[in-house]
Amino acid sequence: MSVKKIVVLGTGGTIAGKAARAGDNVGYKAGEVSVGELLSGVPGLENVAKGCELQCEQVAQLDSKDMNFGVWRDLALRCASLMQDVSVQGVVITHGTDTLEETAWFLQSVVRTTKPIVLTSAMRPASALTPDGPQNLLDAIAVVLHPQSAGVMAVAAGVIHGAQSVHKAFPYRVDAFSSGEIGPLGWVEEGEVRWARTAPQPDDVAPQAGLVAQLPPPEQWPWVEIVVSGAGASARAVDALVHAGVRGLVVAATGNGSLHVELKEALMRAKASGVRVVKSTRCSQGHRIVGDTGDFATYPGLSPVKARVSLMLDLIGA
Ligand code: SIN
Repeated sequence: MSVKKIVVLGTGGTIAGKAARAGDNVGYKAGEVSVGELLSGVPGLENVAKGCELQCEQVAQLDSKDMNFGVWRDLALRCASLMQDVSVQGVVITHGTDTLEETAWFLQSVVRTTKPIVLTSAMRPASALTPDGPQNLLDAIAVVLHPQSAGVMAVAAGVIHGAQSVHKAFPYRVDAFSSGEIGPLGWVEEGEVRWARTAPQPDDVAPQAGLVAQLPPPEQWPWVEIVVSGAGASARAVDALVHAGVRGLVVAATGNGSLHVELKEALMRAKASGVRVVKSTRCSQGHRIVGDTGDFATYPGLSPVKARVSLMLDLIGA
């Protein structure tokens, strides 16, 4: 039987970050160390890989605050192609923590995954006294190798999160991610995966699978913005965006979907002029319960940033 391989795609982030001083966990530059160097610096990697060949590719090298549609498209195309390769057991993506949840949701939305695609990251740079990246990489590989793993997941600080629920909840803590009230998919403990519930199944994933082939060049992606309802919200931002040619708007509503009256009027005008308007909620837990006054469409269970991804993809696929 031919040797299986795990492909590690590097995109940058703090996991690949470097500071001038080893004790500096905040004054560093993300995306400095190549994915090849990262892997070669992880003791015990070969043992955890259990005979699988580790192949690495540098898809991008950036701070994920600067993530862009070109990198997303490259990642999606590469993942889709790797999913077809019978010698590939799964994919690990090293990524910054800041926009990891958006990339995870984007990939889950477009790549048909019968194998695991595991995003991992770090809160401390590679140059730190005690970096968290090496353990996260080991844990991500353990998840890729688990026979029940499938679909897009995030692994950090020993916790396995699903692509829909994962979000960065803490700006500094090493255990920065949360799956909210849904809870994690599982944990990795001393290299062993323990699922909290049924592992994700291939059929649960990729709501818009197949779209990967239709992704246009980045400059042709539809312009979609997020506006927020709150005290003193006005029509001005929405009116200006519509005037400037925005194609879609996600509104982060208060509570169970309520909107400031002035903002709502502006959004109704935007909708009437052909702009797609989708409502999400500022609340980070629970689901918005839709009443009978459904004014705008919704993507149940999606945060504003993930709803923006889905709206862009809907506009691309339309
Ligand atoms: C980034 O998102 O690239 C920087 C921050 C991090 O990875 O923690």
